[in-house]
Amino acid sequence: MEFIDLKAQYRALKSEIDVNIQSVLDSAQFIGGPYVAELEKRLAAFVGRKHCITCANGTDALQIAFMLAGVGNGDAVFCPDVTFIASVEPAKMLGAVPVFCDILPDTYCLSPESLERQIKAVLAEGKRAPKIVVAVDIFGNPCDYDAIAPICKKYGLTLIEDAAQSFGASYKGRRTCSFGEIATTSFFPAKPLGCYGDGGAIFVDDDETEALIRSLCVHGKSTRGKYDNERIGINSRLDAIQAAILLPKLKALADYELNARQTAAERYSAAFAGKFVTPVITEGGVSAWAQYALLADDPARRDRIVARLTEKKIPNMIYYPKPQHALPVFLNEPCYGETFPHANDYCARTFSLPIHPYLEEFEQREIIEAVLEAVT
Ligand SMILES: Cc1ncc(COP(=O)(O)O)c(C=O)c1O
Repeated sequence: MEFIDLKAQYRALKSEIDVNIQSVLDSAQFIGGPYVAELEKRLAAFVGRKHCITCANGTDALQIAFMLAGVGNGDAVFCPDVTFIASVEPAKMLGAVPVFCDILPDTYCLSPESLERQIKAVLAEGKRAPKIVVAVDIFGNPCDYDAIAPICKKYGLTLIEDAAQSFGASYKGRRTCSFGEIATTSFFPAKPLGCYGDGGAIFVDDDETEALIRSLCVHGKSTRGKYDNERIGINSRLDAIQAAILLPKLKALADYELNARQTAAERYSAAFAGKFVTPVITEGGVSAWAQYALLADDPARRDRIVARLTEKKIPNMIYYPKPQHALPVFLNEPCYGETFPHANDYCARTFSLPIHPYLEEFEQREIIEAVLEAVT
């Protein structure tokens, strides 16, 4: 059994993927070209945004978003305490300071109350300029954008949606990747829409911003050409082979994979109701179920369950063992009095089970039985 069965997905889509890869090899157009252009068009249409610009990975996508928002020395970047480091890493690269906010105790997404408290604390201190908010659709669950967007507006902050884990999810009828001034995603293989290497994308609505992103992704090239550079950028492009792989995968995601993930999540939640804290989806949201995370009663019980599952060869993971503020690299960042009770509690009790569109019912039964046996 696999935690995320990419081999089963490849078997299902092999004929289309193989044909597409071969056609890129025959064309010898490995960077840019028709597959990349077609993918960008389809991704933008799927999420309901005017422009999609693909790039080399989700971390670069965030760095470019931060650069677009003008993040630099002395700025404060607000981010949830439970996420992957990439959500905030580019802040440090650009000389800014990450300011972590607690999560909501039920959906595990950014807490609007904690966000506003942290913004006020930074303003009161007067040492740093609040600049952007990175809202992370954690584990595929969309944030409460109706609560977060007005806070960003009130304090004049750019909202960036980190949809690395939520491609395919929606909030109040709108797909993720369509929230905030800029949205980013990742095509890391294990993501809901993953390629066969690294990949990412940036989504915006404004034409001028699109042009700027295309320049930033290619060493700050100008409209006059690649060797007439007008700004400092980075080198971040999606390979044509990855685009050729993502096209049939995007179709499968829309046609049946999202439904299959939802069915698998519902089966788990029915089996574990009353025995564990099961995931709660943001009101008005539909998750892409990148992960299925349970909370055990206490940390010791979580550790026992995880050990037992590993012994029985049931794949499991802990996303994430530490909140961001407790990572060694961030220990000296200012917390502004926030004690992160929900993030700390979540990380101490969480464990995640296999979830993917090709998870068979019999496999899920085996997982459920093992978890229930381990908890008694
Ligand atoms: C929430 C989040 N943001 C950003 C990223 C970065 O994506 P990538 O690995 O493609 O750089 C990830 C990837 O794990 C992620 O989970």
